[in-house]
Amino acid sequence: MQRLQGMHVVVGVAGSIAAYRACDVVRGLRAQGALVRVAPTKNAQAFVTPLLFEALSGRPCLLTSLDVDQGRIPHVEEAYQAGVVVVCPASADVLAKMAAGFADEAILSLLLSFRGPLIIAPAMETQMWEHPATQTNVATLRARGAVFIGPVVGPLASGRTGQGRLAEVDDVVEAVVAALSPKDFNGKRVLVTAGPTVEDLDPVRSLTNRSSGKMGVMVARELALRGALVDVVHGPLKVPLPNTPGLRGIPVRSAQEMAEAVFAGAADVDIAILAAAVADFTPRTVAPQKIKKSSGPPVVELVPTTDILFTLGQSQRSLVLVGFAAETEDVERRAHDKRERKGCALVIGNDVSAAGSGFDVDTNRVFLARDPLRGASMWLPQLSKEEAAVAIVDELRTLLP
Ligand SMILES: Cc1cc2nc3c(=O)[nH]c(=O)nc-3n(C[C@H](O)[C@H](O)[C@H](O)COP(=O)(O)O)c2cc1C
Repeated sequence: MQRLQGMHVVVGVAGSIAAYRACDVVRGLRAQGALVRVAPTKNAQAFVTPLLFEALSGRPCLLTSLDVDQGRIPHVEEAYQAGVVVVCPASADVLAKMAAGFADEAILSLLLSFRGPLIIAPAMETQMWEHPATQTNVATLRARGAVFIGPVVGPLASGRTGQGRLAEVDDVVEAVVAALSPKDFNGKRVLVTAGPTVEDLDPVRSLTNRSSGKMGVMVARELALRGALVDVVHGPLKVPLPNTPGLRGIPVRSAQEMAEAVFAGAADVDIAILAAAVADFTPRTVAPQKIKKSSGPPVVELVPTTDILFTLGQSQRSLVLVGFAAETEDVERRAHDKRERKGCALVIGNDVSAAGSGFDVDTNRVFLARDPLRGASMWLPQLSKEEAAVAIVDELRTLLP
């Protein structure tokens, strides 16, 4: 799914050792369908040639503010067309110039004509980053609405380790996607659960299930992209949790830990989406030492875990509660049944035994079990989990007061 189809993105590049990583940012933005224009500073051009940026972006670079193209001024025109500007990497020097309003580079002139969202990914030596002059410039730019991604702690060009390393390329691209996403969930607080739980039998063995967590993570990400503040309470995931602005992971292991984290976090949320595959049963006791083969096959007594969805449905008044039903048969009836029994506004059913649906695959075919008063329930076509998340979040929008 291309999230930036046809959108104009300007990438300003400053003279930093990390300038070469701007190449991957350009590639990542183009992979999302963006029309990218790179504006390297004169010093950045000493690190990476414009030729490479032009080849990767497929468009000429903005190389200087002293440029006129057939009577038009490219950096001004681009400022009016761009949906977002990302400065990556931003040097200490460029931060200072942006804060002060300098216009002696194409990217700086462009920024003075630009009124949209600005994302800044700094890269520099720790001492430069921590210097009061730099921090004052950062504060000035933040106060004007700029979003900073990083710098992170890691190995630096000097061979030292500290804060100052450019953020991961994927995180910079994700910030651009977030900046250009609709904000129809602005200010909403959401709790999402995702992934499997793990019920320990002894210090080395456990009972779990095949959930990768991808569907829940995609729903959480979609909500964060659209402006919500999202806490994801998750068991061990098989997919990375994206660094989407507004998204926070709360790792847990067992069903009991998940229940505690959900009840602690659900008090002040507007929406709770329980997509995790929570164990229904857990061993009554956990053996303190590894169970020995020589003792013969153990008899494991299982006891029910807390029904998180049901408990939330009982306790919350104003919460929009959404459940997931992973079934292997009779999906529609079971999803409807679950919605009624658990007090949910919506249950998303899927057949985890069908090809291209459910656990461990990138696609899903989901059934929206709606309250009959709100309209007919329906199957969505088979979609990527990212596309299914968009459809689920669109559906959620209709459930908000
Ligand atoms: C090898 C090398 C690496 C550098 N890396 C950085 C850096 O990561 N961050 C930074 O702020 N300056 C760095 N500098 C210093 C900048 O290149 C210098 O301040 C320059 O004036 C920045 O120009 P610009 O901000 O116009 O692009 C580096 C210099 C050299 C020679």
